[in-house]
Amino acid sequence: MTKIAVAKGDGIGPEIMEAVLSVFEAAKVPLTYEFVDMGKWVFDKGYSNGMTPEAQQSIESLGILFKGPMETPKGKGVKSVNVTARKTWNTYANKRVFQTLHGVDTVFSKAGIPIDITVVRENIEDTYGGIEHMITHDVALSRRFITRPGSMQVIKYAFEMASKNGAKRITCGHKANIMKLTDGLFLECFYEVAKDYPDLKADDVIVDDLCMKLVTRPDLFDTVVLTNLQGDIVSDLCAGLVGGLGFAPSANIGDHICIFEAVHGTAPDIAGKNIANPTALLLSGLAMLRHLGLMESAAMIENALLYTLEQGVHTGDFGTKGTASVNTTDFSKAITANFGKTPAHGAKPMLPNKPITPTTFKLDKNPMIFSKDEDGVKIVGVDLFIESTEQPSIVAEKALKQTGDLFKLVTISNRGTQVWPKGSVFTNLVEQYCCRFESVGETAVTQTDIMALYKRIAEDFKVCSTELLNVFGDKKGYSLAQGQ
Ligand code: NAI
Repeated sequence: MTKIAVAKGDGIGPEIMEAVLSVFEAAKVPLTYEFVDMGKWVFDKGYSNGMTPEAQQSIESLGILFKGPMETPKGKGVKSVNVTARKTWNTYANKRVFQTLHGVDTVFSKAGIPIDITVVRENIEDTYGGIEHMITHDVALSRRFITRPGSMQVIKYAFEMASKNGAKRITCGHKANIMKLTDGLFLECFYEVAKDYPDLKADDVIVDDLCMKLVTRPDLFDTVVLTNLQGDIVSDLCAGLVGGLGFAPSANIGDHICIFEAVHGTAPDIAGKNIANPTALLLSGLAMLRHLGLMESAAMIENALLYTLEQGVHTGDFGTKGTASVNTTDFSKAITANFGKTPAHGAKPMLPNKPITPTTFKLDKNPMIFSKDEDGVKIVGVDLFIESTEQPSIVAEKALKQTGDLFKLVTISNRGTQVWPKGSVFTNLVEQYCCRFESVGETAVTQTDIMALYKRIAEDFKVCSTELLNVFGDKKGYSLAQGQ
C-alpha cells in the first residue's frame, strides 16, 4: 500500500483529520499514513520553521502531505509553517475548486445559478516572499517578486488542467493597469502559454472588476488564474459563493511534492468542541485520492458526501436552521452510512482505480529555473531611495551637485508620485524620496559607476535602498513615477 505523510494540524485540525481518515478507513482506501510533527506545538518546542527535521525527511521521501490547518504563533518572529511548506517544496500551483453543493444553501443555489469555478493561485512568489524591511522609521517596504519561470510554471499547469477537464474558458485576473511590470509579466506569460491551447477561450479581467463579476455572474467563469495575493483574496470570495470556508478544498501542486489541505484555518473559536465541518478537508482528501489515481475510492466517497448533504445532514456552520445540526464525528458517520448511494445532483462516475506509481524522484541539487535573455541587458542608471525631511527642491539641489559627468537627475518622487522637477505642493511627503539618476545619453554604465554615485550621494543623505535601471533589448525594465 502507498504511504503518505499526514500532519493533523492545530485547533480543529485533529478533529477534522480524524473524521476524514475514519471515512477513508471505512471506504478501504488503500493508503497507509505516516504521522509527522508540524504546527504550533512544534514551534513551541523550538523548531523555528514549525516542523521537525524527521517530518521534513518523511515528506520529502513520501512526496504527498495531507495536512490539517496550522497556527502561526503571533509576535514571535516566526513565519507561517503553511507558507514555508508550500515554498520549500515548490508547490507552485494552488488549485481550489468551488462547486455548488446541493444541500448547502446559498443565494446562488436558491436562484438556481450553478457555480463551478476552479481558482489556480500562484503559490510561491509575490508579497508572500515576506521580504520586508523598515527602511526608515516611517517607511516599511515589501518586495514583490513576480518571475517569468515562476509565472510560466503555474500558468502552464492551469492551462493543462483546464484543457484536460474540458474547460471552456480560462481567465487571468490581474492588476497590470497599475503594476505594469509585475502583473504585466504575469499577463504576458498567460498569453504566451495561451498560444499552445487554441481551443480554450483565454481572456483577462482586472482583479477588482473580476471580484464584481464573480459575485454578479459566477456562472460565467470556469478556470481563473492569478498571482499569489490576489488569488488568496479571490479564492476566499469564491468560497463565500458556494457556502463558506467549510466547503473550500485546496491542492498545492508541485513537480515533486504535493500538499492537500482545506483553505480554512484552525478555527480557534470552535476548536476542541467536535463541531467543525470536515467537508473542506474531505474534499481536499478526495482531490488527493484522484491525484494518486484512486478514482473509484474518491467517487464512492464523494457520492456518499453529496448524498448526505442532499439529505440535509449538516454541521452547525451551514444548513437549514429548522434541522438540528450534527457534530463532526456524526457527520462523518452519516457519510460512511451512505456509501453506495447515488446523489440526485452531480453524481461522480465510478471510474476504476489506476495503479499508483511510486514516487521515485530523488534530487541531489536544487533545480534552477530560468529563461534565456535573448536581448541582452544594459544598466542605464539607478534609483537611489534616500531619507530626508527636506523639501523636494532642497533634495534636488543637493543631488544635482553629485551627478558627475556620467549621470543626470531625471526625477524625484515620493511614494511613487513625482515631486521634482514638477509636482504639486498638495502632495503629502514622507521622509523618503526616490532620486532617479539616468546615464547621459542612455549609455551603458557599470556597477562601479553606480557605486561611485552612491558614495557621493551618501555624503548628504542616508541611502535606504537602491534599484538598478535595466534595459532589456529596447524595453525599459523600470516604471515611471506618477506624473513623470
Ligand atoms: P479560520 O478559517 O480558522 O476561521 C474563520 C471562521 O471560519 C471562524 O469563525 C471559524 O470558526 C470558521 N471556520 C473555519 N473552518 C471551519 C470549519 N471547518 N467548520 C466550521 N467553521 C469553520 O481563520 P482565522 O480565524 O483567520 O485563522 C485562525 C488560525 O488559522 C490562524 O492562526 C491562521 O494563521 C491559521 N490559518 C491556517 C491556515 C492553514 O493551515 N492553511 C489557513 C488560514 C489560517
